[in-house]
Amino acid sequence: MRLDSILLFFLLTVRAWALDGEEGGEKEAKAPEEATAGPPSDELLEEDDILVLTQHNLDRALREHRYLLVEFYAPWCGHCKALAPEYAKAASLLKNESSELKLAKVDGPAEKELVEEFGVTGYPSLKFFRDGNRSQPVEFTGPREAEGIVRWLKRRLGPSATHLETEAEAAQFIDSQDIVIIGFFKDLQDEDVAEFLAIAEDVVDLTFGLTDRPELFQKYGLSKDTVVLFKKFDEGRADFPVDEELGLDQPDLTRFLVIHSMHLVTEFNSQTSAKIFGARILNHLLLFINQTLNSHRELLKDFQEAAPPFRGEVLFVVVDVAGENDHVLQYFGMNATDAPTLRFINVETTKKYVPNTEEEITAASITTFCQDILSGKVKPHLRSQEIPADWDQKPVKVLVGKNFEQVAFDETKNVFVKFYAPWCTHCKEMAQTWEDLAEKYKDHEDIIIAELDSTANELEAFAIRGFPTLKYFPAGPDRKVIEYKSARDLETFSKFLDNGGVLPEPEQPEVPLPEAGTNDSKAHKDEL
Ligand SMILES: *[C@@H]1O[C@H](CO)[C@@H](O)[C@H](O)[C@H]1NC(C)=O
Ligand SMILES: *[C@@H]1O[C@H](CO)[C@@H](O)[C@H](O)[C@H]1NC(C)=O
Ligand SMILES: *[C@@H]1O[C@H](CO)[C@@H](O)[C@H](O)[C@H]1NC(C)=O
Ligand SMILES: *[C@@H]1O[C@H](CO)[C@@H](O)[C@H](O)[C@H]1NC(C)=O
Repeated sequence: MRLDSILLFFLLTVRAWALDGEEGGEKEAKAPEEATAGPPSDELLEEDDILVLTQHNLDRALREHRYLLVEFYAPWCGHCKALAPEYAKAASLLKNESSELKLAKVDGPAEKELVEEFGVTGYPSLKFFRDGNRSQPVEFTGPREAEGIVRWLKRRLGPSATHLETEAEAAQFIDSQDIVIIGFFKDLQDEDVAEFLAIAEDVVDLTFGLTDRPELFQKYGLSKDTVVLFKKFDEGRADFPVDEELGLDQPDLTRFLVIHSMHLVTEFNSQTSAKIFGARILNHLLLFINQTLNSHRELLKDFQEAAPPFRGEVLFVVVDVAGENDHVLQYFGMNATDAPTLRFINVETTKKYVPNTEEEITAASITTFCQDILSGKVKPHLRSQEIPADWDQKPVKVLVGKNFEQVAFDETKNVFVKFYAPWCTHCKEMAQTWEDLAEKYKDHEDIIIAELDSTANELEAFAIRGFPTLKYFPAGPDRKVIEYKSARDLETFSKFLDNGGVLPEPEQPEVPLPEAGTNDSKAHKDEL
């Protein structure tokens, strides 16, 4: 999880365009050839400022418009319909810009030759043509809304980075936005510059500049090729030195820009949540406060003060318990009255950490809390229900976090546990069988059939990722755990138990359990 996954993320984003609408990719209709009489015309028609292209007029459109964005659509494609109003809006926004730039569309199913020529595999598919060149158009990778389309196109038209020559120009450029990025390169013909400009073309939400002027290197205290992110908040500036031997690494720089364009402390709400999870920083430190209370707001200073050394490693997030954040509290099993307090979570493992409540929240205690977690000194906090008074009164024993260790790893017992979620259908389907199994073995002194609600009880020994999960803990001192992956019927279960935790032959491959909706990590990711 670092550079490669950032790259993967971008690849997936790019691919999503091609994949959408593929469900109907085979249903292409034949063009009604005989509909037109006489020689095909290359006349250019427009609908809502969008050129309607065919194989007969594409060449002319390319001749007349230096920059052409072409959408391949199909009349039946739902994603195309969703895009249509945004596309039309983008066309009208661009109308005043320049006649060199034009949006166009091609009815894919009716224009099979074009679909084939440009390798369109799904709808909608958008391709950008430059300088009237019909070969190798660029795949559109920008956002699918009007302003995003316009921004993406302007990046490709203009220079994607502004050339800066003088100190005054540079100062003005830096002042023009909350965040600007300037590439300082000694030699603008260098390959690194091309890499830099390629990023500038794609990262349309940020503004890029470029310079090779020695006086600007000096003014900003640089002696080597460096990409500098200037911001009007937090540290004010972050430097990305270009590796002299390996050159500029695109995924590295992309990740650097994501991390350093975020504020050190982000307030959590519905607008920022996408950014918080999009940052791909796995550790989150959450400060829960009631923003209407002065005494709580004062803690923001400490939180902000503790954040800088953890940039890129731990994302600092503020959650207002007086805001619309009940789902976050719920996810952490908390109450608004618990504020002010901290929680730390690794969003990949979903391990959560709770600070010592005795300790006051200060910049120093926040720093120590993070350091101790990152160095493995603090154990994750595990949720558990209370042990029910009658947990061992029925054939199926009820386990919770608090009695799990003691029961499952009892050296004198063979323990077979069903880990379930109350809402999971496969769990409900096998509930009766599990009861029957417990009934059948209730007089076996050394066999325990048990269940544990994994949505309310977390375990130190392992995380449960699918429901139901069945595990067998044979008697003995070595804490062995055997995952049961065979058929979920009484006969196979019995054979397994009678055989001491093995089946003569694996009977049937496990039905794969979906990751989504397994435990609450997803819920946290989607909502928080
Ligand atoms: C385009 O220019 C015209 C005339 O200058 C103006 O009235 C119109 O609002 C502009 N449209 C857009 C979308 O900027
Ligand atoms: C068109 O673009 C391709 C690929 O970028 C390039 O190889 C070719 O030389 C270009 N043709 C013209 C006429 O510019
Ligand atoms: C936040 O504090 C205000 C002022 O004391 C209080 O009225 C409110 O109930 C608190 N909100 C929550 C969710 O505790
Ligand atoms: C939340 O706090 C209130 C007041 O302290 C308490 O009555 C309630 O039981 C708490 N709820 C939970 C879920 O802990």
